Amino acid sequence: MNYRVLLTGSGGREHALAWKLAQSRQLEKLWIAPGNPGTAAVGENVPIAATDFDGLKALALTQQINLLVVGPEDPLVMGIADWFAADPALSHIPVIGPPRRGAQLEGSKDFAKQFMQRHHIPTARHTTVRWDTVAAGDAFLDSLPSPYVLKADGLAAGKGVLIIESRDEAKRQLRRILQGLFGAAGDTVVIEEFLQGTEVSFFVLTDGEHYKLLPEAKDYKRIGNNDTGLNTGGMGAVSPVPFVTPDFRQKVEQQIIRPTIDGLRQEGIDYRGFLFLGLMNVAGNPYVIEYNVRMGDPETEAVMPRLSSDLLDLFDGVARRTLHKKPCDIIADTALTVVCVSGGYPEAYGKGYPIAPLPAMPGSLLFHAGTAIADGALVTRGGRVLAVTSLAPGIAEAREKAYAAVAGIRYTNSYCRTDIGLDIMMKKEND
Ligand code: AMP
Ligand code: GLY
Repeated sequence: MNYRVLLTGSGGREHALAWKLAQSRQLEKLWIAPGNPGTAAVGENVPIAATDFDGLKALALTQQINLLVVGPEDPLVMGIADWFAADPALSHIPVIGPPRRGAQLEGSKDFAKQFMQRHHIPTARHTTVRWDTVAAGDAFLDSLPSPYVLKADGLAAGKGVLIIESRDEAKRQLRRILQGLFGAAGDTVVIEEFLQGTEVSFFVLTDGEHYKLLPEAKDYKRIGNNDTGLNTGGMGAVSPVPFVTPDFRQKVEQQIIRPTIDGLRQEGIDYRGFLFLGLMNVAGNPYVIEYNVRMGDPETEAVMPRLSSDLLDLFDGVARRTLHKKPCDIIADTALTVVCVSGGYPEAYGKGYPIAPLPAMPGSLLFHAGTAIADGALVTRGGRVLAVTSLAPGIAEAREKAYAAVAGIRYTNSYCRTDIGLDIMMKKEND
């Protein structure tokens, strides 16, 4: 099949997806809405926001798009897949991304918890409260040991989770969230038992019936080395994750992935797209911390380079519900991604700093996240600016290559963590 693909979004995730799609022999042409200077090198950027459904429709019609790939979660939670399916002019275009009800797995943490309960999927014990049931929240907190996990129900741009040591403070913060700390996203709050363990992210592509397991990854979320400081969208990623043994992977598939996909189907949700499972490994057993209904960023920048099969061919399988017939081969090498951010991120940071001409990075990949072209020159546009991924047979070498490449990236107030993958490397050396 010859695909005329429209990919929505503008970050490093979208650059990595676009880079991978551009390698497909089934690709006739790729448009990215709105894209970034990185995606412009592998497709055609169009200045349409990922949430501008009418704008996307107009482009889909004039360019005879025959596949829509949705990068970020917002349009999915807003129902872009349903919207395309319901429009007679667009309904023939398959969408890689779930319908609105499926996107509730990410759009509502309470929905996700109830879904997991219905389908017996391992997750932390919880209770859900609103302002009129805050006393029940206090009672639940009284029944738990420290620390306490509070989650705003709705999308809060990755900021809606608080982990608090003191019970009194947890009760205070519960009230603040219910009173608008995270806006309307916190009208409902999920209170959860804290799970002690090691986190890992799994990525699945499903056609609603079959699925392919993509490489797992570890995300480095905090701004500072040794996981200190504020939470960010992600400062780096590594794939594979050594503690993911065949036994653990089998548990994830049997106890989490299969019941999730079967559960969605039983509930009449035609889920086609990516499913991102944020998991906690608690003494060798996986628990779901969160579902996301899209790929992770920066995890995509580490995951896509490890996929040797054709991503567009896999999407063809999703569209035709023949995913089980498609190869999904993974490169054994380690991929390590370092994100270069603008100093100050995730709080206030400057924008528009010129980025010095990027050096050649043999053996490494450079993905644009928050960059723009101003007066013909590349400048910073966002907090997360660039992501460098290196692949190597071992993690030490992947780290060396990635940081050697990062050393060539220059703009005012650039910052990156210098310890991405170091924990995994040390642990391996000690094993
Ligand atoms: P989320 O926004 O759901 O990814 O939560 C942000 C972070 O909070 C996660 O990546 C975990 O590190 C942590 N977290 C969330 N829920 C729990 C939990 N029940 N137990 C321990 N840590 C958690
Ligand atoms: N890196 C975490 C996320 O994409 O949600």
